Amino acid sequence: MTSAPTRPTSLRHQLARRKPIEQLQAEAAAGVDGEPLRRSLGVWHLMMISVGATLGTGILVVLGTAVPLAGPAVWISFMLAGVAALLSALSYAEMAGAVPTSGSSYSYTYATMGEGIAWVCGWCLVLEYAVSVAAVAVGASEYVDETLRVFGLHLPAAIAAPPGDGGVVNLPAAVLVLLAMAVLLPGARESAWVNTLMVVVKIALLVFFVVVAFTAFSSQNFAPLAPMGAAGVTAAASRLFFSYIGFDAASTAGEEAKDPRRDLPRAIIGSIVIVTTLYILVAIAAIGARPWTSFSSDEASLVRIVVEVTGQPVVALVFSIGAVIAIASVVLTVLYGQTRILLTMARDGMVPTVFGRVSPRTGTPVPNTLIVGVVVAVGAALVPLGELADATSIGTLVAFALVNVSVILLRRTRPELERSYRVPLFPVVPALGTLCCVLLAVFLGAGTWIAFGLWMVAGAVLYLAYGRRHSTLR
Ligand code: ALA
Repeated sequence: MTSAPTRPTSLRHQLARRKPIEQLQAEAAAGVDGEPLRRSLGVWHLMMISVGATLGTGILVVLGTAVPLAGPAVWISFMLAGVAALLSALSYAEMAGAVPTSGSSYSYTYATMGEGIAWVCGWCLVLEYAVSVAAVAVGASEYVDETLRVFGLHLPAAIAAPPGDGGVVNLPAAVLVLLAMAVLLPGARESAWVNTLMVVVKIALLVFFVVVAFTAFSSQNFAPLAPMGAAGVTAAASRLFFSYIGFDAASTAGEEAKDPRRDLPRAIIGSIVIVTTLYILVAIAAIGARPWTSFSSDEASLVRIVVEVTGQPVVALVFSIGAVIAIASVVLTVLYGQTRILLTMARDGMVPTVFGRVSPRTGTPVPNTLIVGVVVAVGAALVPLGELADATSIGTLVAFALVNVSVILLRRTRPELERSYRVPLFPVVPALGTLCCVLLAVFLGAGTWIAFGLWMVAGAVLYLAYGRRHSTLR
């Protein structure tokens, strides 16, 4: 509910106001307009939501563009990005076990650093979720085309690309987003079930790739290991960080988990271990099967390797269909996460209350899901995302850094708070997590930083126009 201000609050004072954790928990239990979300997800569903949101375009598309930067050492780049992700995952696990709401890092920062930083974090999460899901869906249309090519068909450019990229509309990307939206409407448990099926398919796809590629393994492909030196390896790590975005998605299910304090830390840590292991295996298998110099601008490199090794063009069909399913589960789970974060922000008056309405019939935020689904579908159909898509990595790194800082602050301000999981070696782990996120963000290009700066200016304007006046804490 929104409340009319009775006396003016200074902007500085309002930006610094923190939300008490007990209030966050009470509001989550009560829901918006008295309708809470339905608790139906177990640890397995939660882990699959995180794996579903993470494994996708990064390993299937971005790997091919990172190899020319790092050379055979690309698996080390995966490890470096994985360390930054793992350190942040440990911090997410502690915060999700202590403050299990659907707002994820937005709520953690609201409780520890105040409304201003919480808005910055929430606005970064829109980059991490809504903008990245549009970018991910655009990537899927390439694999749809790859699938059709096996049958001698080809998507006309007019319906396969947005206006700036030589087409009129990217239809496959928009359809994928709308399908994901339709799956999300009936209920979280139903969506989680569909997602689990798709995650099983994509893990099987990557295991299949590793097994096939290892049959053509040549250790000579690894010499010299890092032809572009340490600079190339770190630049590739920054780019590959995109492939780790999403492990935090389970934390957006804090209000739909049956036992969030016990299950959220397990799901977050379990998912990061699964994806990091798969990424390193796939990278080693890919370089072992194909000299790194053949990877330049080769977007469907994994498919090509499987076809080269097996000599069977039909595997291109199977692999491309699997890739579309893999990317579809990213779209589904990331869209889910975005709707739950907006729901929490609506409860705080940061965005209109329509985003917080939960249908009594399905127990899901129906108007929110429809609005987010349609807006993201239009974005995926019409916008060549360019630098804005790259800016998703900076937005995510900022959000992750803030979560690491939140762990340190909350231990100091609320040492007695019940925590179902505690990061080891405190405060070294969250401090290192913050440092890794900052370093990876610094290695991203100047153009990406400019796009991110413009995004933050737009966020500030929106906050002053709406959130500042409607904040329920005010
Ligand atoms: N990590 C997600 C992907 O790679 C965004 O598709």
